[in-house]
Amino acid sequence: MVTGIVYSEYYYIQKGQKMENIIGSKRMGEIIKTELTKLLTVMERGYSPFEQAVRTMNVSVCEAFKQSGTLAPVMFAPGTRTIEPNREIADAFPNSISASRNIILSASETLTAAESCKRVAVLFSGGPAAGGHNVVAGLKQILGPTNTLLGVKAGPKGLLKGNMFEITDEHVMQIMNTGGFDFLGTDRTKIEKPDDIDKVKNVCREQNIDAIVIIGGDDSNTNAALLAEKLFYNVKEDGSGVQVIGVPKTIDGDLQLGDDLPISFGFDTATKIYAEKVGNLLRDTASSLKYWHFVRLMGRSASHVTLEVALQTHPTITLISEEVRERDIPLSEIVDIIARIVIERSKKGLNYGVVLVPEGLIEFIPGFTTMIDDLNDKMSQFKEELGGKNIREQLLFVYSKLSQSHGELLESLPESIKYMLMADRDEHGNLPVSKIETEIMLSNAVKARLKELDGNVKFESLNHFFGYEARCGASTLFDSSYTYNLGATAGSLILDGRTGYMASLTDLDKGAKPLGIPIASLLDIEMRKGQPAKVIEKALVKLDSPAFLYLQSRRRLWAENDHSSSPGPVQFWGPTSRHMPKTVALNREYNSLDFKFDAGE
Ligand code: FBP
Repeated sequence: MVTGIVYSEYYYIQKGQKMENIIGSKRMGEIIKTELTKLLTVMERGYSPFEQAVRTMNVSVCEAFKQSGTLAPVMFAPGTRTIEPNREIADAFPNSISASRNIILSASETLTAAESCKRVAVLFSGGPAAGGHNVVAGLKQILGPTNTLLGVKAGPKGLLKGNMFEITDEHVMQIMNTGGFDFLGTDRTKIEKPDDIDKVKNVCREQNIDAIVIIGGDDSNTNAALLAEKLFYNVKEDGSGVQVIGVPKTIDGDLQLGDDLPISFGFDTATKIYAEKVGNLLRDTASSLKYWHFVRLMGRSASHVTLEVALQTHPTITLISEEVRERDIPLSEIVDIIARIVIERSKKGLNYGVVLVPEGLIEFIPGFTTMIDDLNDKMSQFKEELGGKNIREQLLFVYSKLSQSHGELLESLPESIKYMLMADRDEHGNLPVSKIETEIMLSNAVKARLKELDGNVKFESLNHFFGYEARCGASTLFDSSYTYNLGATAGSLILDGRTGYMASLTDLDKGAKPLGIPIASLLDIEMRKGQPAKVIEKALVKLDSPAFLYLQSRRRLWAENDHSSSPGPVQFWGPTSRHMPKTVALNREYNSLDFKFDAGE
C-alpha cells in the first residue's frame, strides 16, 4: 500500500539517516532537493504524516456485529418503542407506515449469510460532517465481498444523473478516519418532484441498484423517507422495489430522538474544534485584557453547538436561541443584558470577555420570527416579480408587501443584515443563517447601549464566525467509531431486507446497540417557502434538559469572574480522547463522559 512506503521515506528524511537507502548514490544536496521535492509532492493531497497515521487508527465496534472474530451483519426485530405520526403523514406514506407500523427496530441475532449479491449505492447529502467516510467504510465492510457498494458522486444531484462508481477495499483504506465528504462530494438538491423520482427509478433500473443509503441531516432524511415510499415496489422489471436507508448526519446536532438517537454524527468533531478556538480566545482575553470577542457559532436554528461549546469552555456570556424565544426576550433586552455584564466586569477591572452567539439567533428573537416567516412567504409568492430587480429594488418591493410591523422591523435593521435576510433560501426553504452576521449587529448595538448607560466604560469588540472551519476536521475518536458502526447498521438493515429506516445506535456509554428508526414516522408538517411541507422537525435545545439547566446554574458565575477552560485541540489519545459530547452525556443521564461502543473496552 502507498501509505507504508511514503511514510517510511518521510521517516528517513526526517531523521537524516541512510539517505542512500532511498536515493542511491547521487550527491546529497542535489538528492535531498529532488527526493524531498518528490516526497512533498506525494504528500500534497491527503498524505500528510498525520493523515497517514490516522488511517491506521482502530475504531471500536459494537458487540452486536462481532461473530467469531469477524464482522458480521445483524438482523432486526421490533423493539418496544413506537413513534406515532399524525394522520396526514400516515396517509401520505402508506407503504412505509404499514410496513414499519411505526415501531423502532432493535438489533437481534447475527445474520450468518450475507451473500445476497446486492448492489448498494451510497451518497452524502447536505453540509459535510466529520465521520462520513467511516460510514462508507463500515457499510462496505458489513456488505462484504459478495455485495457491491457504489459511491454516488456529488450528492442527490449525482443520484439523479446516475453518476456513480464501485467502491473498493483500497478506497476504504484511503478514506478511513479522515474528515470531510471529499471522497464523493455532496449537495443540497431536494428530490421531490415526480420527474425526479422517475429519474431515480430509471437510474436504479439502468444500474441495477437494489438499495440506496443517504447520509444526511433532517432535510436529507426527509428525502430518504419520500424515496423509500416511492421506490417501495414496482421499480424493477420483476415488480420489486429499491430499499432506502438513512444515516443521521449534521454538525448542528438537531437530528436527535432521545435515547433512540442520542446525536447526529459530526457534532462531536465540530464542537471540539470550536471549543479549542473559543478556549484559546478566552485565554487571549485574560492575557491581553482589552477585548470583548463576539463569536457566532455554526449550527443553524438549534443552539446545540453553542451549548456544547459553552459547557466545554465556560465563556463569559452564552446566548441560547431557544431561551430567547421561549422567554420572549426582545433584541433590546439581549443587548441590555450584555451591556450590563460589560459594565459590572469593568468595575472589577475586567474589560474583556467572550460572548457566544448561536448562528440562527436572529430567527428566534421575538418579532423577527414572524417577520422572517412573512418575508419567506412573500419571497416565494412574488418570486417572479423579484427576479429582475436589484437588491435595493427588491427591498422596496418587499416592504410594500409585508405587514406594517414586519416592514418597519426590517427597515430598522442595519443595511447589511437586511441584504442578508433577502438571500436566496436553499432548496429545502432554509434561510442561509451562516451568512447573517448577527455577531456584528449585536456588538454594534452593545456599543451604542453602553454609551447610553455609562459613557466611560471601556469596550473594544472583535467579531468572529466559526463555521466552515470545523465541518471537515479530522473526526474525533467518538465520531470515527460512531460512524463506522452507523455504516454497519445501515448495511445490516439492507441485508435484513428493510427500507425506510434510519440507522441509529443507543446506549453509547455501555456497548452501543444498533437500531432502525422508521423515518416516515418522524415527519411533521412545517411551513417551508410559504407552503406546508412534510419534513423531519429539527430537534431544538429544551430548556428543561439537564444540559441547559447545567449552563443555567453556572452562567452567572462565568459572567462575574473568569472560569474559562481550554479543552485544547482534539485528542486521539489520553484520558479525554474517549469523551463524547457533554450535552449528550448529560441529557441521556449517563454516568460518565466516556463512550463505549465495544462492551469489552
Ligand atoms: P446540514 O444540516 O446539511 O448538515 O448543514 C449544516 C450546516 O453546516 C449549518 O450549520 C449551516 O448553517 C449550513 O450547513 C451552511 O450551509 P452551506 O454549506 O450550504 O453554506
